[in-house]
Amino acid sequence: MRAVVCRGAGGVEVLEVAEAPRPEIGPDDLLVRNFAAGLNRADLLQRRGLYPPPPGESVILGLEFAGEVAEAGSRVGSFRRGDRVFGIVGGGAYADFLRVHHALAVPIPDTLSYDAAAAVPEAFATAQESLYGLARLEPGESVLVHAGASGVGSAAIQLARARGAVVIATAGSADKVAACLRLGASRAVNHREEDFVAAVREFTESRGVHVVLDLVGAKHWERNLDCLREGGRLLVVGLVGGSKVQADLSVILRRRLQVLGTALRMRPLEEKAAIARHFRETVLPLLESGAVRPVLDRVYPLEEVRAAHERMEANLNVGKIVLRL
Ligand SMILES: NC(=O)c1ccc[n+]([C@@H]2O[C@H](COP(=O)([O-])OP(=O)(O)OC[C@H]3O[C@@H](n4cnc5c(N)ncnc54)[C@H](OP(=O)(O)O)[C@@H]3O)[C@@H](O)[C@H]2O)c1
Repeated sequence: MRAVVCRGAGGVEVLEVAEAPRPEIGPDDLLVRNFAAGLNRADLLQRRGLYPPPPGESVILGLEFAGEVAEAGSRVGSFRRGDRVFGIVGGGAYADFLRVHHALAVPIPDTLSYDAAAAVPEAFATAQESLYGLARLEPGESVLVHAGASGVGSAAIQLARARGAVVIATAGSADKVAACLRLGASRAVNHREEDFVAAVREFTESRGVHVVLDLVGAKHWERNLDCLREGGRLLVVGLVGGSKVQADLSVILRRRLQVLGTALRMRPLEEKAAIARHFRETVLPLLESGAVRPVLDRVYPLEEVRAAHERMEANLNVGKIVLRL
C-alpha cells in the first residue's frame, strides 16, 4: 500500500510517499481501506520529531480517516465489509489501509463524501469533548472561540450554536472573520487589528463570557482570564501560541474560574471509545440533519502531502485540509 513516511525529522522535505506493508489486525479491529485523511497540527509536530506516536501506534502520520471496512476482526459484530466508516486513530491515516479498534469507528452519514467525512472526526470530537463534555455548555451561555476559522474552531462555533449558545470568535484575517460569521458567530474579531478583550467586554456589556475555548495557549492566557465572567470556564485545547505562562492565581481564586484541559491522542482505549460513543450520540445526528457541517478548506492528492503541510504551516486554511487517497 502507499503511505506517507518521514525520512528523518524536519521540514516538508522529509515527507515521502512510499510502499509500506498493510497493517495486521487483531480480533477487535477493522482493516479500513482509506479514501481520505484530515490534516492536523499534531502531524506537523510529529514530522518535526516533536510529537512521537504513543507506544503501539503506527509510525505513519495521520490521526483521522474516512474509508470503508475491508475486513473485520473475528470478534467484531458491529461492522461488515463495505461499511463506510470514519474516526480517529493514534497514527497511520496517511495510508491506503489502516487498523482501527471497532469501538473507535463511526458510520459515515450518507450525506457526506469521503473527503467531507475526513474533515470531521478530530475537529468535531475535540470541540464536542471540550464544549459539551468539559465545559457543560448551556443554552443561552456565551463562548469566545479563538482561531474560529481553524479546523477545531470552525467545528466549535457550530457546536456552540447548535447548543443554543452565543459565539464570539477571533481570527487572523478578513476572510477568516467572514468565515466565522457565516458559521454562526454573532461577532468576529480580527485579532491582528482589534483587542479581543475590549470586543468581548463591549459585546457582553462588561459581564464577560461564560466559556473561552482556547487553541492558542500562552499568548492569550492572561487576556483569556480577563474575558471570563465570574465562575467562567477556560478550555485549554491547543498551544499554537506557546505553553509557558506566569500566573496570578488570585484571579482564578477570587473570580472562581475553572481551567479545563484536554488532549485526545494519549488517552486509554476506554476513554477514546467513550468519546466516540458520545460523538455518535450527539454530533452524528447534527451532521445527518445538516445542523452542522464539515468545513473543507482544500483537498490534496496524497502525492501533494508536502504542499498540504505547507498550507497549514502558513495558517492559510479555513476549516480542514484533507489528503485524498
Ligand atoms: N486537545 C486536543 O485534543 C486537540 C485536538 C485537535 C487539535 N488540537 C489543537 O488545537 C489547535 C488547533 O488545531 P486545528 O487543527 O484546528 O489547527 P488549524 O486548522 O491549523 O488552525 C490553527 C490556527 O491557529 C492560529 N494560529 C497559528 N499560530 C498561531 C500563533 N502563534 N498565535 C496565535 N494564533 C495562531 C491560526 O489562525 P488565525 O490565522 O485565525 O490566527 C491558525 O490558522 C492546535 O494547537 C492543535 O494541536 C488539540
